[in-house]
Amino acid sequence: MSGPWILVLDEGTTSTRAMLFDAAGRPGGVAQQPLTQHYPRPGWVEHDPHEILEKTIACAREVIERAGGAGHIAAIGITNQRETTVAWDRTTGKAIGPALVWQDRRTGDFCTSLKDAGHEDDVQKQTGLLLDPYFSASKMRWLLDNIPEAHGLGDRLAFGTIDSWLIWHLTGGLHVSDATNASRTSLMRLDGRGWDAGLCDLFGIPAKALPEIVSSAGRIGETMPEWFGAPIPITGIAGDQQAATIGQGCLAPGETKATFGTGAFILTNLGHAVPKSGHRLLGTVLHEIDDRRTYALEGSIFAAGSAVKWLRDSLGLLQTAAESETLARSVDDSGGVVFVPALAGLGAPHWRPDAAAALMGMSFATTRAHIARAALESMAHQCNDLKRAFKADGADWRLLRIDGGMSSNNWLAQDLADILDVPLERPTDVETTARGAAMLAAVGIGMHSSLEDAKAMLPPVDAFTPNTSPKVREARLAKWEAGLAAVLKGQG
Ligand code: G3P
Repeated sequence: MSGPWILVLDEGTTSTRAMLFDAAGRPGGVAQQPLTQHYPRPGWVEHDPHEILEKTIACAREVIERAGGAGHIAAIGITNQRETTVAWDRTTGKAIGPALVWQDRRTGDFCTSLKDAGHEDDVQKQTGLLLDPYFSASKMRWLLDNIPEAHGLGDRLAFGTIDSWLIWHLTGGLHVSDATNASRTSLMRLDGRGWDAGLCDLFGIPAKALPEIVSSAGRIGETMPEWFGAPIPITGIAGDQQAATIGQGCLAPGETKATFGTGAFILTNLGHAVPKSGHRLLGTVLHEIDDRRTYALEGSIFAAGSAVKWLRDSLGLLQTAAESETLARSVDDSGGVVFVPALAGLGAPHWRPDAAAALMGMSFATTRAHIARAALESMAHQCNDLKRAFKADGADWRLLRIDGGMSSNNWLAQDLADILDVPLERPTDVETTARGAAMLAAVGIGMHSSLEDAKAMLPPVDAFTPNTSPKVREARLAKWEAGLAAVLKGQG
């Protein structure tokens, strides 16, 4: 092992990982541990914040040891599942409740009450976000209202997303979050520097419990020597979808990526103009460097890899996730089956936390291969609904760069190109989220002078070209639209 290395802590929804990259983007090792998912009631999704912390430290120690010790690590970059919210006691460092995961919909009624009171337009204008349980503010409010300890804590109460939670512990009490993560809370204006007092009032969140908002690259803090044997600077932070956009090299306006992880998230770089969607997409901070923000337009799909995992683990229809590709190829079409995977409600552009998933069009001739194929087809269908919204917002995609675990499925990649009718590129190494965080940290420590310069860390790509007849494409889309309409009407 040579180095010096950038250590990335990649905090996904289903696992926590530590990865090493050198200045040329060459990977130097990875350690990974799965995270326990808690589903205490329908619609509720929780993580144990201390499990996230302990597994992060264990994975980081493992790769640091393989690198030859902390002296070989130039900097740390952190990237995380966004919106997931933790509340803790600053004097003990103990979480006072579970982490409420981004998929959690328990605050649906609260969000509906704000919508009914006419607040959505204003919230969207200021934050780029809609009123939905997905975002952090309503989760903070739930923790305040339902964890008895929260009120008694006064100034000792701290709120944060996963980046803040980890940095607080790694540094011994630095309470910060970067602008990309802050832009997912509903409490920061896209064009504002700190927390917005009006938004904090609307959601009933005490601003003093929130972290300081910092840039995505720069000298943010230092780990306590007792964690890794010597202090290591933390020089990059970004929400995982923003990091993946950077790790795909989407640095110029119009460049677009789609990450197929637990969910699927499509972001188009919009440059320095504050985004405003007229078609139910989100405006978000892509990164903040040297106090300058770059923005993105985002479409969030809540079930992607998680839908395949559900077919495997809950229904037992698949042995492995990879089997979905073999099954999809084994049939000519889905045999009329349509799967609308609203397993955690529907995100963009519908924003229906109450929607339920549906599997339709089955007969005695239906096999598990048809169902697996319908599940994979639903990815392209959901992305196509987003493509229409992006186009209507003036940000159509000319080329789509895909990544995430599920994107290694070649059948899925070709189907996306066919249904979206755009050329696709997929990096030969699909670890774009971690790579993007490494690029930010490399810029933050001065290993690269800018993100453009850090593009030297990107791997080569494979290309997929659209190759289907308009007739097949239209027939597929017509079936999907009928299925989706039934789900939206609650008739799935
Ligand atoms: O907004 C939620 C997103 O950040 C989750 O990402 O990679 O865990 O699917 P992932």
